[in-house]
Amino acid sequence: MRTFPRPPAFTTMSSSFSQANPHALASIVAASEAGGIEASEDIVDERGVKLWARGSPVLAGLVERLLQGGPYLSALAASEARRLLRVAGSLPVEASVSLLLTAARGRGTGFSHACLVMLAAGALAARCGCDEGSLQRTMLAALLHDIGEQYVNPAYLSSRRELTLDEWRHVSAHPRVGELFVSMNTRYPQRIAALVLAHHERFDGTGYPGRASASALPDGSGFLIVAETMAGVLNNDPVSAPARAVLAMGLVFGEYPMGIVNHVVRVQRSFPVEGAADLDRETARERVVIVREGLRRSRQAAQALEDLTEHEAERRSLARLAPLLGRLEAAFVSTGTAHYFDLVEQSADADAELVLQLELVPREVRWRMRSLARDVAQDLVQFPVEAQARFEPLLDALRGVPAGAS
Ligand SMILES: [Fe+2]
Ligand SMILES: [Fe+2]
Repeated sequence: MRTFPRPPAFTTMSSSFSQANPHALASIVAASEAGGIEASEDIVDERGVKLWARGSPVLAGLVERLLQGGPYLSALAASEARRLLRVAGSLPVEASVSLLLTAARGRGTGFSHACLVMLAAGALAARCGCDEGSLQRTMLAALLHDIGEQYVNPAYLSSRRELTLDEWRHVSAHPRVGELFVSMNTRYPQRIAALVLAHHERFDGTGYPGRASASALPDGSGFLIVAETMAGVLNNDPVSAPARAVLAMGLVFGEYPMGIVNHVVRVQRSFPVEGAADLDRETARERVVIVREGLRRSRQAAQALEDLTEHEAERRSLARLAPLLGRLEAAFVSTGTAHYFDLVEQSADADAELVLQLELVPREVRWRMRSLARDVAQDLVQFPVEAQARFEPLLDALRGVPAGAS
């Protein structure tokens, strides 16, 4: 397996676990005040007060609650639910991990998210016929996948505004920090650390932190990658989550492992999008126009730069961008979103699935455009100073800044 290139933020952010990270420390203090989860080893504070007791099947209880509370998750787990409960209850949770998971519990939705991803990844692995060892590895890695977030400034994680490049570097290093944490502070096999590192990668090499493509990813990473995306949409809107997950993962061919996504699609069929199709037509139109125009301007700006540029680093950056941008534009066109918009405009009673698509597709495309902008912005430091200004129109277009607004 190849190792991933390290992101620039990595060295500054996580050079040592021997020094207390203020964000992790603040979470641990908050969690110790609020109570915690139970560990495979007792954890006591400096006064000898037991914060966590040994060996209680807390995770199995949480998984059971998730299954009971969510028809979608229970449909995904289906006949494997009992097996998933058993594996969750027997996971070897080491004390250092319990400490940070407990900290995550006292800080936003980190802990419930970890359990959700653990359950979804486990359900997908079970559906794909994984044996007991793979299932346990998948669920353990999924439980740990965001443990590196405990070392990230929580203000960046919950930010609703777009992050600056430096802030994004900080956030996007969390898989690497998690990998390091597992390697240095636990006795888990290296495969667990490798899975943690891979959870935001994409099979076509467009993920982070390593831009690693399928052949460089560890076995089983697809379960985490798909489960992470599913958990993201489940948190946002449990009602339309199945359809959202399928749309997000099917938008750009090659990003996700289709063998695993097919299981999500199968479950989604029993959860049709229903209900009132409320649509703020003006906002929907604006979103579609921003994306369509943004893609067009990005393509033109990139082509103009290709004619101007002589510097090798600029060429490399543009050569990487061009096919990704082309694929994204093709994906957007192929969804027919602009066409559907006309249909919805003409119809008083908009079909719920069309409305969902109008809302979701532009958002997904914009997310990917911003991700491309971040990639180009990270390359800028290697360019000659005069070239950096030349790239501004391209960056504005990718970021969806209206023409002439910056
Ligand atoms: Fe993550
Ligand atoms: Fe996550």
